[in-house]
Order: sequence, then C-alpha cells, then structure tokens
Amino acid sequence: MKRKLHKIAKDTNSFLKKYLKLQKKTGLLKAMSYGLLPGGKKIRSKILVDVGKIFNINYNVLIQIGAAVECIHAYSLIHDDLPCMDNDNLRRGRLSTHKKFGEFTAILAGNSLLTLALEILTDNNLKINNKSKVYLASFISKSSGHEGIAGGQYYDLSFEKKKISLTKILNMQKNKTGKLFGFCCVAPLLILSKKKELSKFNKIGEDIGLLFQTADDLIDFRGDKKLAGKKTRKDLTKGKATLISLLGYKNTIKYAEKLKLNIFNKIRIYGNKSSDLKETIEFILNRNR
Ligand code: IPE
Ligand code: IPE
Ligand code: MG
Ligand code: MG
Ligand code: MG
Repeated sequence: MKRKLHKIAKDTNSFLKKYLKLQKKTGLLKAMSYGLLPGGKKIRSKILVDVGKIFNINYNVLIQIGAAVECIHAYSLIHDDLPCMDNDNLRRGRLSTHKKFGEFTAILAGNSLLTLALEILTDNNLKINNKSKVYLASFISKSSGHEGIAGGQYYDLSFEKKKISLTKILNMQKNKTGKLFGFCCVAPLLILSKKKELSKFNKIGEDIGLLFQTADDLIDFRGDKKLAGKKTRKDLTKGKATLISLLGYKNTIKYAEKLKLNIFNKIRIYGNKSSDLKETIEFILNRNR
C-alpha cells in the first residue's frame, strides 16, 4: 500500500511541477508551489486511482484529475492555517504558507490554486471528451464551495466552543472533508457517463472523507506532532466540535471501525477490483500522519 501511494504521490507531483513550469512566473507562483508540492500524502489521488481501477480508467487521466484535486486540497489547507481560521504555523513539517510568505500572499496563492484546478480539468491535454470535462468541472466546483469545503469550514469555525449535535457534526465533517473525497469517487463515473452508480459512489466517497477526518481528529488527540508534521492536541484547546469531543476517544474509534465496515460492505460486490480501494481505506483509519 505504502509503495503504491508513494508512486501516485510522485506521479502527481511531477505532473504538477511540469504544469507549474508552463505558467507565467508571477509573484504568487512560489507560494502556490510551496503550499502544493512537498510533503502531502496525496491520499485523495490514491482514492481516485483506486476507484478508477474498478472502472478501467486510464492511469494518466486519473493522475491529471488527481492533480486538480490536490490543488483544491492545498488551497483549503493554506486557508485553514490562516490566523482567522485555525491559526497554525506548522504544516507538513514546515512553516505554513502564510508564515513563510505573509498573509495576503497566502490568501491569493490559495485562491489561485482553486482556479488552477479548473484550468487543469479543462485543459486540452486532458484526454477525455469535453462533455466529461464539463461534468468534472461542475462537480468539483460544487464540492469546493458553500455546499462543500467552504461551507464545511464555515461550520467548523462557527461551532468552536459550542455544544453541537451528532447530526450537525457529521454534516460538517462530510462537507469540509467528505465532499472532495466524493468527487474522487465519482470522477471515473462522470467520465464514463454512468449515471446509475453516481449517487452510490458519491455516498461512499463522503463516508471515506468522514473516516479520513475522524482519523485526523484522532491523530490530533493522540498528539504526536513530529509524526503528524503539524501541531497536535489543538482541537481540544480550540474547542472544536468533533466526534471525539462529543463521544469521547474510545467511542470515536468504535464509530470509525463501524463506518469502515459499512464502506467495505458497499464495495464488496466489486471483488478483487476493489482490493486497492479497501487497502487504502484500511490505511486511512490506521495511519499516524
Ligand atoms: C489534512 O489533510 C486536512 C484534513 C482534511 C484532515 P491531509 O492529511 O490529506 O493532508 P496532507 O495533504 O497529507 O498534508
Ligand atoms: C481541515 O481540517 C479540513 C479542510 C478541509 C482544510 P483540520 O483543520 O482538522 O486539518 P488540519 O488538522 O489542520 O490538517
Ligand atoms: Mg480546520
Ligand atoms: Mg486545521
Ligand atoms: Mg485536524
């Protein structure tokens, strides 16, 4: 699993490096590249490749779509670390983008990564038909805006230091993290215009995202900053509404285990073709960074 993830991370990074080289050398490019390239696990690209394997999608096409996803993810992290949000100085083992380049540069570099994702998805070099590109661009936009990452982040920050119900916490996590994983799981179906399985895979993706965020919250709680490459034990201090703050550590692990088995049940019908996806889901829950 780690070897496969490493290869996908390498291929995604080399695609992105080449892509950035073709861009004009603007004042923001360095900060964009800093926030995007080094250190990230590229787990969303891995999910995309795993689901793409089930539906026999070309690997290079998947890597390019994954690169777009990673741009949006990087933008969300750059903004997440800003003083007006989580106010974190450390990301992926180094200074967060605003600490390194200043706040206005970080905000604008983040915005530019968001739009770069759409450039990548609609690029002539992406070898899928134009209709599919429109589907992808439309779906990723919805996953990133107020019905997705941005909306979820709004709730995450508004819920600080408040008692929040389970339903609301789950909804917040599914938006801030789940929707982008949802996109990764439906992208292969959008390319094939397979409308029938779309909502099923969207739901699977959102659940994988919920599992991913829960694991991230567990990593924060356990507090190994060095391994995580970012400050830990901060959710508690900030009064973040998480499954851990509501149910406690042990019950959150139980919840996550159940969620994992639930996802396994849904992908079982794909047999051997879904074994990579299963492995990745297992990794998501048991990782320490
Ligand atoms: C961290 O995401 C933010 C969350 C959504 C929990 P990742 O853990 O995927 O971050 P990188 O890209 O590997 O640094
Ligand atoms: C970030 O969640 C989720 C995003 C969509 C950016 P966190 O705030 O828990 O991520 P970390 O712990 O800072 O990486
Ligand atoms: Mg946050
Ligand atoms: Mg944060
Ligand atoms: Mg976290």
